[in-house]
Amino acid sequence: RTLRIGLIPGDGIGHEVIPAGRRVLEAIASSFNLQFSFVDLPAGYKTFQQTSVALPDKTVETLKKECNGALFGAVSSPTTKVAGYSSPIVALRKKLDLYANVRPVKTTLSSKAPIDLVIVRENTEDLYVKEERTFEAPYGPGKVAEAIKRISERASFRIASMAGNIALQRQKIRETGVQSVHSKPLVTITHKSNVLSQTDGLFRETCRSALSDPKFQSVGVEEQIVDSMVYKLFRQPSSYDVIVAPNLYGDILSDGAAALVGSLGLVPSANVGDAFAIGEPCHGSAPDIMGKGIANPIATIRSTALMLEFMGHEEAAAKIHAAVDGNLDEGKLLTPDMGGKAGTEEVVEDVLRRL
Ligand code: NAI
Ligand code: MG
Repeated sequence: RTLRIGLIPGDGIGHEVIPAGRRVLEAIASSFNLQFSFVDLPAGYKTFQQTSVALPDKTVETLKKECNGALFGAVSSPTTKVAGYSSPIVALRKKLDLYANVRPVKTTLSSKAPIDLVIVRENTEDLYVKEERTFEAPYGPGKVAEAIKRISERASFRIASMAGNIALQRQKIRETGVQSVHSKPLVTITHKSNVLSQTDGLFRETCRSALSDPKFQSVGVEEQIVDSMVYKLFRQPSSYDVIVAPNLYGDILSDGAAALVGSLGLVPSANVGDAFAIGEPCHGSAPDIMGKGIANPIATIRSTALMLEFMGHEEAAAKIHAAVDGNLDEGKLLTPDMGGKAGTEEVVEDVLRRL
């Protein structure tokens, strides 16, 4: 069966790193008895400037009707509000119901304090429902602004189930012989229910209930208040396996955890729903290095592996991660953000050789 992959480079270095994902897929195809075909799809700020639409309907339709998975590069956002423009990746997540943002944060095993964790962030509700209002304070001069924090049982249940499934899947990958700092699957539920007993309380209880399903019997479950979690995440990152969090905490923890591995150019993510996954490097369009041929392709290559994992091709994914680990451990061909002198092309070639 041929797997059709939508390629959405977006803006800036998206055009330099997305081809790396394509080449990696082409390189592993035959060893795993897979075939890939690709379709280039427009989206982003440049597309908006040219057509006055940031996310063309055709792009969404093609993803829905033809594609088995997709890779998204990055988009530029104007610094001031531009009428009619809104982020295409945010819209794509909604249109394809990609309700989870999954961000693995991983060092190679040879690093002094190896980290191998994944943050599973709920992506549809919490404070990001953007229901805000501003009004004159009834009790005195000045304005008051407030925002709704919405937590539902349905969204909490499905994100916790996804975290449980990811924990099991990571265990399955470890059982194929991939070395890791973890020997058992563990999900940590993040919340602040000591203060927000209803909203975060519901999140916490619903996660507990989802993870009590017998299919998660082998998965350890613990919970942690978000502020103390930040402390521990930076002091002892190796103690975390899978972290599940509501939208806002997950957003903050994800960027914070990315700092643990050195460069934004290394950190992948995936936008995941029940039927579709889009791999996406965590970095932006990096206008400061665009066109210089020095963008680090590793975040995209790891995002490609992540997409494959969600498509059920764990072994192919593991092989890609191993090739990247080999490149990083040897440390000879690194891009400037990692302290090296290599260009994008040289890093891709090195990873392809290892594949
Ligand atoms: P950025 O991630 O584009 O860049 C931050 C710094 O990291 C820059 O110095 C850049 O050169 C470096 N960097 C990022 N990716 C790299 C890579 N692969 N290799 C080497 N160095 C890399 O974030 P910034 O500068 O805040 O935003 C630039 C544009 O990207 C903005 O328009 C912003 O809105 C957009 N953006 C888009 C995102 C997305 O599409 N998901 C996420 C973050 C920012
Ligand atoms: Mg963020």
